Amino acid sequence: MHSSKILVAFVCLLNFSECKKILAICAFPVHSHYIYMERILDKLSERGHEITVISPSKVSNSNFTKIYLSGLSEGFEEKRTTLLNYGKLSVFSKIMKAYEIAYWFTENAVKSHEISEFLKQSQHFDAVILDQFLHDSFLGFAHHFKSPVIYTCSFGTNIWSNHYVNNPSPLSYIPHKFAIHSGKMTFLQRLQNLINSSFEELYRRFVALPKFNKWMKTIFPNAPNLNELMYQDPLLLLNTHYSTHNAIPLMPNMIEVAGAHLKENPLPEDLKKFLDDSTNGVILFSLGSIIRSSNLTNPDVFLKVFGKLKQNVLWKWENDQLPKSTDNVKFAKWLPQFDVLAHKNVKAFISHGGLLSSIEAVHQGVPIVGIPIFGDQNVNIKFLQSKGMAIYVNYLDLAEISLEKAILQVLNDEQFKINAVRRSELFRERDMKPLDKAVYWVEHVLKYGKLSEMRSHSMDLLWYQKEMVDVAAFLLFLIAIVAFLVIKMCKKNKIKVD
Ligand SMILES: *[C@@H]1O[C@H](CO)[C@@H](O)[C@H](O)[C@H]1NC(C)=O
Ligand SMILES: *[C@@H]1O[C@H](CO)[C@@H](O)[C@H](O)[C@H]1NC(C)=O
Ligand SMILES: *[C@@H]1O[C@H](CO)[C@@H](O)[C@H](O)[C@H]1NC(C)=O
Repeated sequence: MHSSKILVAFVCLLNFSECKKILAICAFPVHSHYIYMERILDKLSERGHEITVISPSKVSNSNFTKIYLSGLSEGFEEKRTTLLNYGKLSVFSKIMKAYEIAYWFTENAVKSHEISEFLKQSQHFDAVILDQFLHDSFLGFAHHFKSPVIYTCSFGTNIWSNHYVNNPSPLSYIPHKFAIHSGKMTFLQRLQNLINSSFEELYRRFVALPKFNKWMKTIFPNAPNLNELMYQDPLLLLNTHYSTHNAIPLMPNMIEVAGAHLKENPLPEDLKKFLDDSTNGVILFSLGSIIRSSNLTNPDVFLKVFGKLKQNVLWKWENDQLPKSTDNVKFAKWLPQFDVLAHKNVKAFISHGGLLSSIEAVHQGVPIVGIPIFGDQNVNIKFLQSKGMAIYVNYLDLAEISLEKAILQVLNDEQFKINAVRRSELFRERDMKPLDKAVYWVEHVLKYGKLSEMRSHSMDLLWYQKEMVDVAAFLLFLIAIVAFLVIKMCKKNKIKVD
């Protein structure tokens, strides 16, 4: 056993009532999903809890027990590039594509040697933390260990999380995650929202859940069905806040902890020097952890525009085949994005608009030129655009003129910076630090178990009862009877008068 693990075990013995065992599962091989839970796990570990992580991501904390899911990260490589064409798909294909990725990692994980070895050991866990990206099959672990479920939701609420706790999510003002607008909907958009969201509801219920259920049963044959396991009063740690999302209703077990993943570190020397020396300002350009700049089909568009700027550009470019560029462009394979954004010379951020990136820009008050590519990136950027701190640029018809115009506008119109700074202040002004809040609630669950007291009565209603369809039908029936009687009486009176 690792010496630090012995130390943790020792600390646990000293105050054993408080040290608990936590199993965290993040099977989606995209680092940003793991990053969102990583800081929370680190902090829990610092507080003496024992953490076991099942994931294909790189788990750096030496105090964690790691179950590495092999093959998934490698398998995801080819899927990355196909995501660049995501915007061209119909909304139905977009939705199915997201599920297909989940089918792929779920099936691989449940069949993996690592998980079957792990389950052979007899263990006990006090809570199971799941990445809330279609990890339904992994609810079997919570049943197996008889432990409550905690979800880390790196992209806020959605159809999936709303289901777990019956969170109200009216289609009239809460758009589907793949919408391309900020949420203030016209009649037609509300109609579209009904179609988009109903499609996903039906697809999820009749296609996806049976598959997830089947995969869960391959490792946990005795578990009840998912449509029972799913509703066991989980805790949901949402990556949302009113400064980064539209106002929506939330059940009491949905806790907003946007920013919990943030941690400032000093910049590496060379990067710090580059930023300090860029007295005309710097533009940071990164497409996040899924899309690779080196896979862009049109890097020339960017290079031409960057060549005309007086600012320097810091570009996250993941391989060694660098394109020919002007002197003001510096490439880096990896960047401490949050710390770069903190530097006073960084004037704008060209981003894909992933939620973690958007939140980092909001925290540091840096205006965004957003080029969303898939998933919730469109709504994130549209929201920040509606608040005056971002400009939306369409990736599919990206052209030199529109890109240049957007960059110059963000750099030269000071209103963008003013709005970004205001958003930053709102984001930072909290009753409790988001990481502390996340840890507080996890420990609440460790202490009291699943949050049954927070279960709403709606969980016991059928859908037509919840939507008051039965009551409406009854009232319509009454009105029909009264109308019928009135008409009948009128007719009788008429005959009498005649
Ligand atoms: C691991 O645990 C030890 C003992 O509690 C602690 O000193 C050390 O900082 C921890 N390491 C990490 C990476 O958190
Ligand atoms: C519905 O999907 C269409 C097609 O992708 C998209 O343009 C639209 O913004 C979506 N609307 C909503 C409200 O989700
Ligand atoms: C995408 O980029 C990666 C890493 O830079 C590279 O290995 C891969 O071949 C590229 N894929 C395509 C289709 O260009």
